Amino acid sequence: MNRKIIIAANWKQNGTSKSLNKLASSIIKGINKTTRKCEIVLLPPSIYVNEIKKLLETKKPYNVFLGIQNISPYNNGAYTGEISISMAKELQCKFCIIGHSERRIIFNEDQISLAKKLTLAIENQVKAIYCVGETLSEFRKNMTKKIINNQLKQGLDRSLKLLRKNPEKLIIAYEPVWAIGTGKNASEKDIVNTHKYIRKILFSMFGTLSEKIRIIYGGSVNNKNANTILNLNDVDGVLVGGASLNAKKFVEICSSI
Ligand code: 13P
Repeated sequence: MNRKIIIAANWKQNGTSKSLNKLASSIIKGINKTTRKCEIVLLPPSIYVNEIKKLLETKKPYNVFLGIQNISPYNNGAYTGEISISMAKELQCKFCIIGHSERRIIFNEDQISLAKKLTLAIENQVKAIYCVGETLSEFRKNMTKKIINNQLKQGLDRSLKLLRKNPEKLIIAYEPVWAIGTGKNASEKDIVNTHKYIRKILFSMFGTLSEKIRIIYGGSVNNKNANTILNLNDVDGVLVGGASLNAKKFVEICSSI
């Protein structure tokens, strides 16, 4: 099955209005014919989403979409500080990240709320980039499969019926926690094996519909290793942190498919 490659830029809590407008403009300018083969997703800090939306409306790049880094597990209401999926949708966010390890670990997000977020995203027809991945100590104890199996089951079980109707709305991002921001990406062998395992679990949950679900890799992806990673079996894209804050590097990653 031909799945469209996704190259996503997770800008995390970085930048200013000025710097991110400049970054997005340079990325859009750098995109060329080769990058048309993929879906490029920009995920600014929430407070700047509207500005990047306006920029995309002006520049109208062919294949660049907007996403949000996190959503509330609740619909609109008395939830101080939160941003609902309908608010993100109103600002043309076509993608949202759910369960990034920084949210799981630093902000103590639990599986119940992540599962709720996933349901809300799919109900609202926003594509969910659901992150899974093991910590360094779990990796060392050979627990990767067990951890990923639990994260997938606990995150997706609640939305199975919905997802069966919209499998293409789900993207799984394999992000080993120890590879994030460390400059040490997972080995080719580990990426291939883990993606293969994720695909096996997805098949057990969705049967042949699982073929429509993309599995992307994140963790120290840069302009030097992107081509190798993107050519690995069962890798349908990359989720990029640090290197996506540099327009030249990010465009090179997008051009490396
Ligand atoms: P780095 O690319 O900086 O390792 O971050 C990866 C990540 O967390 C993307 O969501």
